[in-house]
Parts: sequence; structure tokens; C-alpha cells
Amino acid sequence: MDNNLIKWDLDLIKRYDLAGPRYTSYPTAVQFDPQLTPIDLVQAGQKTADPEAPLSLYVHIPFCEHICYYCACNKVITRSRKKAQPYLDTVYQEMAQLAAWYSHGRPVTQLHWGGGTPTFISHEQMVELMGQMRQHFNLLDDDSGDYSIEIDPREASLETIKLLRAIGFNRISLGLQDIDPKVQEAVNRVQSVEQTAAILKEARQLGFRSLNLDLIYGLPYQTQAGFNATLDTVIEMNPDRLSVFNYAHLPDRFRPQRHIQEETLPSPEVKLAILESTINKLLDAGYVYIGMDHFAKPDDELAIAQRTGNLHRNFQGYTTHAECDLVAMGVSAISQVGSVYYQNEHEISAYSQAVAANQHAIKRGISLTGDDIIRREVITQLICHFELDKRPIEQKFAIRFDEYFSDVLTELQALAADGLITLDEHRLQVTPSGRLLIRRICMVFDAYIPKVQSTQRFSRII
Ligand SMILES: C[S@@+](CC[C@H](N)C(=O)[O-])C[C@H]1O[C@@H](n2cnc3c(N)ncnc32)[C@H](O)[C@@H]1O
Ligand code: SF4
Repeated sequence: MDNNLIKWDLDLIKRYDLAGPRYTSYPTAVQFDPQLTPIDLVQAGQKTADPEAPLSLYVHIPFCEHICYYCACNKVITRSRKKAQPYLDTVYQEMAQLAAWYSHGRPVTQLHWGGGTPTFISHEQMVELMGQMRQHFNLLDDDSGDYSIEIDPREASLETIKLLRAIGFNRISLGLQDIDPKVQEAVNRVQSVEQTAAILKEARQLGFRSLNLDLIYGLPYQTQAGFNATLDTVIEMNPDRLSVFNYAHLPDRFRPQRHIQEETLPSPEVKLAILESTINKLLDAGYVYIGMDHFAKPDDELAIAQRTGNLHRNFQGYTTHAECDLVAMGVSAISQVGSVYYQNEHEISAYSQAVAANQHAIKRGISLTGDDIIRREVITQLICHFELDKRPIEQKFAIRFDEYFSDVLTELQALAADGLITLDEHRLQVTPSGRLLIRRICMVFDAYIPKVQSTQRFSRII
């Protein structure tokens, strides 16, 4: 399948510009059930997990020194570096419990520190945290795992990058967002191109792979010409992957966004124009559209995995590690073990108290039903590969696809009539015009979305 096939169809985009989940999981986190006890969840996870399968570990480090006004991540803004150690000590306590539940020598083929700003912690603390992870889990020593970290270039020196490589990281993701000084000032994130380029260069020289840059479109004062200039500079920096996120302005939910004046935001028409030229520019520059907000070089593992049918999606987004259980630690972290998902307490104080009392901070989760698992497989196939062969699903789950999903056939036919998908006896194929609307297509298979729906809680698709 040629992944560069995306057709910009403004009529369709406007017609289907509905809200929709991002499907980093199915069912999505809004379905988590606070009635299930942590012990129920852990036991169900242990029972359904493959004891031989590798692990993916995630640590959430929530601190940032400065607030970026647009930010929707779970973070704590503080200048006080003293807050890091008590938090890390709590993470170590939680880690010991998680290792006792799930490690059993299973190889850790994927590891990620996210935030917040993981490099908020000191170099000594980074060494200590990785040391604790090695002590409790079976980390690989031959650089064959994907060990990645999110970096704010304003919060990392070249020494930091060297240290991270020395302790085992081999992937890096940098926040950039936009290079226009006016946009940067409006969102309180002033960051020079030189700063970002220097970190990227150092990382490349040190052998980091799959270098990623995050951009956001829809920020104050952005224009098509201005964002094109950002893209030109970014393309010159030559990252292996790019995430281009749509800014979701929800000031009622994210208080710092109140610093952003609505009248400075680009109109929906300008946002669409920015998205269209972003796609064109990145495809022209040789990137492949992976899906949703993600682009990668054709020789990057994500693009290869998509070509070979091995791409997967989990709480960290697109991944090549379908076989892993995801064991997550830290405030608000979400785990996926066997057929169970669960999330930790959201606030540091509640998280710390819970770990002190119970050795874990599981707040709520979900144990998937057989139907959830079938639908998860269908949605994952579509969102990762833009096509669905019904036969492997029928074999794996012993169902007749058209019978099992008979209630959505009319809806699928309507999408086909509108040109988002094509249908034949065995396959559902997303058309080039449908690719940007993949969330809308997946929603057809989501049993938790009432067919006459209220979709307010989701960020807009486009
Ligand atoms: C945890 S941050 C990245 C690490 C680091 N804290 C930094 O800012 O460089 C993850 C990414 O989420 C994206 N992001 C944060 N808030 C967003 C929002 N409201 N809308 C869209 N993307 C957002 C940004 O691109 C950001 O780089
Ligand atoms: S974008 Fe990154 S640095 Fe800025 S507030 Fe959010 S998590 Fe912190």
C-alpha cells in the first residue's frame, strides 16, 4: 500500500469534521470503571498476560520549570528542584511492587520517560532512576530495545544528552512546536532554533535513532506562511519522525490556556490550510504519513512496520511493539497488561499517599470483554494500516464478520458512498480521502459511542 496516498478533500473534511477519540486504547479511558478494585484489575491482568512476552515500561515525570500556555499534558509547574527526589522515591516504591507483579525476568524491549519534562531531574537522579529500573526489571544491555525520552531542548545540555546515551537511551523526542518568535512569546515558550538543532545534532552523533520533533498547529498568531517557514527549518533539521499536533483550545479544562486570547487563534479555515500545506510539504520532503498526527522517513521503523503490517497503537501512540505488556509508573500513568487497562491517581499528593499506603496508586481501570477485544483488533488494524482484512479476524475470533457487525453495515455503506472507504467481500480499504478521517471511520466499530452521539468530550478530529 502506498502510504503517500492522501487526498485532500475539503468537502469531506468539512462534512466529517466531528469530534472523535484518538484510540490510543479501545475502549478509551473514559470507559474506565471506578467500581473495579485494584486487586481485581491486577489479578485479571496477571491471568490474561502472556508470561513470556516482553515488557514496555513507562515512567511519568510531571515537573516543568515554566508553563507553556497551550499545554494539555499532566504536569506540575515548579522552580523547586527539591520536589523531584520525594517523587522519585515514591516511584521506586511503586516500581518494586510492579516488578513483583509483572517482571519475572521478562525482557524490557521498550522503555519511555515522559512528562512533564523528564530532564527536570538532575543528572544524578537520571542515573539513579535508570539504575532502579535495571535493578527491578530485565533491561537489555545491547542497545536492541527502544529506550526513549521526551526532551524539552531548553531543559537539556549537550552533557545531558551524553549522559542519557550512556545510561541506555537510544531514542529521543524533542518539543519544538513553532519557531516564529511571535508565536513562541504568545505561548510562553521561547526556544531558539539553534538550541533545538544543537541537541538534535549531538543526539545523532551519539547514535540516537528515530529522532522525533513535536510541532503544534493552531497556536496563536500562526499563519500558513509562518508555519511553512517553521516546516522549512524543521525539514532542514532532518528528523526521522515528526508529530504535528492539532492545538486543542479547552481553557475550561486546562487553566493556563486562559492566557491565550481567542482572537489570536487562527480561524478553522486557516488551520485547515496549514494542515493541507503541512501534509504536502512533508510528503514532498520524503516523509510518509503514518496516520493521525504522525509522519516518518520511509526507512524509519514506524514506516517499515506500517508497510509490513506490524504497526500497533498503545497509550504512547504508534509503536512497533504489539507483543508487549505496558507497565506504567508515576502520577496519572496508564498501564495495559493482558486484557486490562488501568490508570494511576492524577495528582501527586493522592499518588504519593496511595503508594505509601498500598505500594501502588491504581485509581480506575477496565477489564476487557470478549467483544472489546474483537473491536480493539478491528480499530487497531484500521488506524495503523488503513485497511481491514476480515478473514484473519474471523479466524482468530471464530466469528462471521458481516454477521457480527451486521448493525454497522449500513453505516459502513454510507461511508463508502461518500468515498471514505471501499468495501468488498473480504476487505475494508480506507481511501486516500478517508485517511485524514480515520478516527471517524474507527468510531463506527466503537460500541461505546451511541449512534446518535454527543461527542463534546473529545478533541476535534481536525
Ligand atoms: C510532554 S510534552 C513534550 C516534552 C517536553 N515537556 C516539551 O514540552 O518539550 C508532549 C507534547 O505534547 C504536545 N502538546 C502539549 N499540549 C498540547 C495541546 N494542548 N495541543 C496539542 N498538542 C499539545 C506538544 O507538542 C508537546 O511537545
Ligand atoms: S509543553 Fe512540555 S514543557 Fe511545556 S508545560 Fe507542557 S509538558 Fe511542560
